[in-house]
Amino acid sequence: MTDLLAIDDLTIRHAGRPLVAGVSFAIAPGERVGLIGESGSGKSLTALAAIGLLPEGMTASGSIRLAGRQLVGAADRDIVGLRGSVVATIFQEPLTALDPLMRIGNQIAEVVRRRARRDGQPVDVQAEVLALMARVALPEPRRLARAYPHEMSGGQRQRAAIAMALACKPRLLIADEPTTALDVTTQAEVLRLLEALVREDGMGLLFIGHDLPVVGAAVDRVLVLRGGELVEAGPVAEVFGRPRHPYTIGLVEAARTFDRAIGAAL
Ligand SMILES: Nc1ncnc2c1ncn2[C@@H]1O[C@H](COP(=O)(O)OP(=O)(O)O)[C@@H](O)[C@H]1O
Ligand SMILES: [Mg+2]
Repeated sequence: MTDLLAIDDLTIRHAGRPLVAGVSFAIAPGERVGLIGESGSGKSLTALAAIGLLPEGMTASGSIRLAGRQLVGAADRDIVGLRGSVVATIFQEPLTALDPLMRIGNQIAEVVRRRARRDGQPVDVQAEVLALMARVALPEPRRLARAYPHEMSGGQRQRAAIAMALACKPRLLIADEPTTALDVTTQAEVLRLLEALVREDGMGLLFIGHDLPVVGAAVDRVLVLRGGELVEAGPVAEVFGRPRHPYTIGLVEAARTFDRAIGAAL
């Protein structure tokens, strides 16, 4: 089966300086992959390159295939079409995905309409919006659909952003630190929801984070990025149980120490 995402020898440069160097990995349909590493290690740039949305002034070399089609060097128009039909993204700050001046139900409806046009299939927009809101466990969908983003909590906004991602019916979901901006309890809830949705729909997942236990709980396989280079990759149990690279050993050790400290404090 064709990989949803296949990245081969990806290097991302800014002003001649490599920020990501020689990164290769692939995600098969339904596979859940975690990308971890400290802040500034190149996680977000890798994700942005994967959807053809690198910031101004950055260049990518190597190969990035989305559902078999090459992104590096492709025309913007083709990239937009390909992105729309294969992948949806959720970012750390849900407000970046939401329009502050539009009721949340209308924002989700817009995505549903766009997808219906793309697939050439008629849809009962209102019914689907309410179903999506219920699916991400937003309370009282009928009432909340009329709310503006500033009237919602951070957790509700991130659930709404997830509903918009699901409305695209993506085959691959890229979630870049989707729970980092939320308080710890809400983090756990949103994470459990994401995990359940990905499993139910059989979506591929690229889950980005810096917290090893959080990422490990949501994926099958992890990649460890450091200073723009992949230093370790493998099944979660293997990387956590027998980390090989000194950097990964440090990450695992730090997570264990933290767990012990929490345990001692309880
Ligand atoms: N728009 C930009 N212009 C210049 N440098 C950037 C830009 N975005 C990110 N960088 C640099 O690229 C590196 C990787 O960034 P990023 O992928 O955002 O890291 P992460 O998501 O792992 O925290 C960092 O050193 C960061 O400073
Ligand atoms: Mg980032």
